[in-house]
This record gives sequence, C-alpha cells and structure tokens, in this order.
Amino acid sequence: MSNTLGEKIKVTIFGQSHSEAIGVVIDGLPSGFRPDMEEVAAFMARRAPGLSELSTSRREEDKPQIISGLVDGATCGAPVCTVINNSDVRSGDYGKLKTVPRPSHADYTAMIKYSGYNDIRGGGQFSGRLTAPLCFAGALCLQLLAECGITVGAQILEIGGVGDLPLDPVRVSPEGLYAIRSKTFPVNDDTAGEKMREEILKAKQDMDSVGGIIRCYAIGLLPGLGEPMFHGLENRLASAVFGIPGVRGVSFGAGFAAARMRGSEHNDPFEINDGKVRTKTNNHGGILGGISSGMPVVMDVAIKPTASIGIPQNTVDLNTMENTVVTIGGRHDPCIVPRAVPCVEAAVAITLLDMLI
Ligand SMILES: Cc1cc2nc3c(=O)[nH]c(=O)nc-3n(C[C@H](O)[C@H](O)[C@H](O)COP(=O)(O)O)c2cc1C
Repeated sequence: MSNTLGEKIKVTIFGQSHSEAIGVVIDGLPSGFRPDMEEVAAFMARRAPGLSELSTSRREEDKPQIISGLVDGATCGAPVCTVINNSDVRSGDYGKLKTVPRPSHADYTAMIKYSGYNDIRGGGQFSGRLTAPLCFAGALCLQLLAECGITVGAQILEIGGVGDLPLDPVRVSPEGLYAIRSKTFPVNDDTAGEKMREEILKAKQDMDSVGGIIRCYAIGLLPGLGEPMFHGLENRLASAVFGIPGVRGVSFGAGFAAARMRGSEHNDPFEINDGKVRTKTNNHGGILGGISSGMPVVMDVAIKPTASIGIPQNTVDLNTMENTVVTIGGRHDPCIVPRAVPCVEAAVAITLLDMLI
C-alpha cells in the first residue's frame, strides 16, 4: 500500500492538496498514551506554509481535528484518525497542467498512471501538503520515542551550495538537537543560515528555486535494532524518507564520501567509554550491517530545487502532441528544504518507533 508506512504502527495518509481535507489514520499506537497536543501543534507549525517570505504564500491553519482514537485525551486502542482541512485553495491556477505537464513535477507520470483521472489541483496527492498529516503522526511518535530516551532532530546542512557547521557525529546531544529544533531556520551556525536565506531570496527574485541537504540524527538507540539485508535500519529509514516529495537522495554516515576514503581513514575504531562499547569516529552513521551500533544515527537527505518555477520552461502539449512552453503560476516554495526538516524528523520517528515496538 503506497499510502501506508510501517508494519506494527501503520500510518495511512489520505487526501489531495485541494480536496476538502487531508488526514491520517494511525493504527497500532499503544493504549493509554496521552499526546501533548501543544507540542504536536508546535511541531506541525514548523512545516506549515506561509510563515515567512521563504515559503509559499498559501495560508493554512493546519489544525488537526482528531475524530477518533482518543478518549479523555488518551489513546484507547482504536486507530487515531485526524483530519486537517484545506481552506486556502485556488484551483484555477492548475487547469492547463493536465495536458501541459510541469517539468520535474509528477503531473506527467500521474496522468499516465491514472489515465488522466488524477487530481491535478495543487499537485493532487503528490503535493508537499500531504506531509502535514505525516508530521502529525511523526509528532506523536517523537513523544513516544522520548519516553524511551530516544531523540530525533535535524539540521539544514546545505542550501544553494552554502553549508552549515555539522554537529559532531560522535557526541550529538538531546540539548544540541533541541537548540536547533527551536529555531525558525534550523541550522547550527546562524551566520551560515543567513547566507542560505539570501540564496533562497535570490532564487525567488529570479523566479527560480534552490535545493539542499538535511542532516537528521537519532540518538539514544541501543545497539541491536534492525535486520540484515532487505529490512535493515538503513533500508527502512531510506524507504520512509523517500516518501517525502522532492527527496532525491539518502546517505548514512560518511555516505558517498566513503567511496573516496581508504579503509584506514573510514574505519571507526571501537573503544570502551563509560563501560560501553563506542566508536571514536562515526563514519558508519550508527548503523553496521543494517543494525544500530548504539552510536548516533546520522542520515543525509538531498532535496531537489522546487520544480514549480516562474521562468518559462520547455514542455509538451499532450492534446496536440507538440512542443510548447509553460509558465507556472500558483504559489510555490522557492526552496522546500526548511519545511522538509520536520517531515524528515517525522518519517524517521515513525520508522524507529515501528521497529522498536
Ligand atoms: C513541504 C513541501 C512543500 C513542497 N512544495 C512544493 C511547491 O510549492 N512546488 C513544487 O513544485 N513542489 C513542491 N514540493 C515537492 C513536490 O511535491 C514534488 O517534487 C513532486 O510531488 C514530485 O515528486 P518527486 O520530486 O519526489 O519526484 C514540496 C515538497 C514538500 C515536502
């Protein structure tokens, strides 16, 4: 089921960008869990549109209405079902995209797959809007993980070629992650963050877009979580994160840079530290053989530049089967990266909780 994530905790997302509402059904949460709804709202606000000049001007309150699964504020064992209304829709912006697909968006492939019955408005089911319910589910899972001493947090590592200072992958702390998470622009070095913002605004001025990299950490995991081969921790995390629209690549630890290292440089020596087995370095990104090593899990997620740009682009007219030019209207993010940060945290949190339960 392509709209369902997880095995023991099943998160099913529904709706389209301009349907009456979007939402999520979360099955398998432990009973008696009392989610802190203020924390949930604060988490979802980090993804919400219209918060600054760096994101789309679409204004959505993103207020989750829980319609089942909680009794007196506690999970009762029935699936938690939440609906989020779509209120700020302007479907007129999208009519012609059905036959004149946007380059790099899912208009063409969706039209082929669904024989033209796909909902083109606002990107339909392929819209970044569908990450709002993902973040709702993720916010609940983050709270349950925190009860087990596990913290998940991400930083913007790069935007438009401007890099942030990464956290030390051996010594990531909950405080360090919370400090970044509390920022409206979640970077480690605010000066780098300022330069990234300038790159986004420059792209916006040029009616263009930029991409970037998000680095996500998970700490507090005991060694031994995961499976070899096809159900490894890397496999499961990558699969979940690729569900976020706009994700182009995922790597762990030293990632692709490992291909250019010697073994003597890349290997992480083991050592006993406070009576625990640790590694001196963390090029393995906390995962060996698909199984957690007890070191911080470190995952990089590459996000492409937003497909919808205002510059005229070459495309085709599927009615006339002729080449044509499209100029995209509507409201779009000049850079998806800042809003995708909580989405990555959410996908990681859901996956880790699902694997732990
Ligand atoms: C939070 C968020 C917001 C997004 N906003 C836009 C947008 O305004 N315009 C756009 O073209 N794509 C946007 N996207 C990405 C598209 O939904 C995505 O590129 C498209 O569905 C095609 O999927 P793919 O890039 O994974 O192949 C957004 C993604 C996320 C996570």
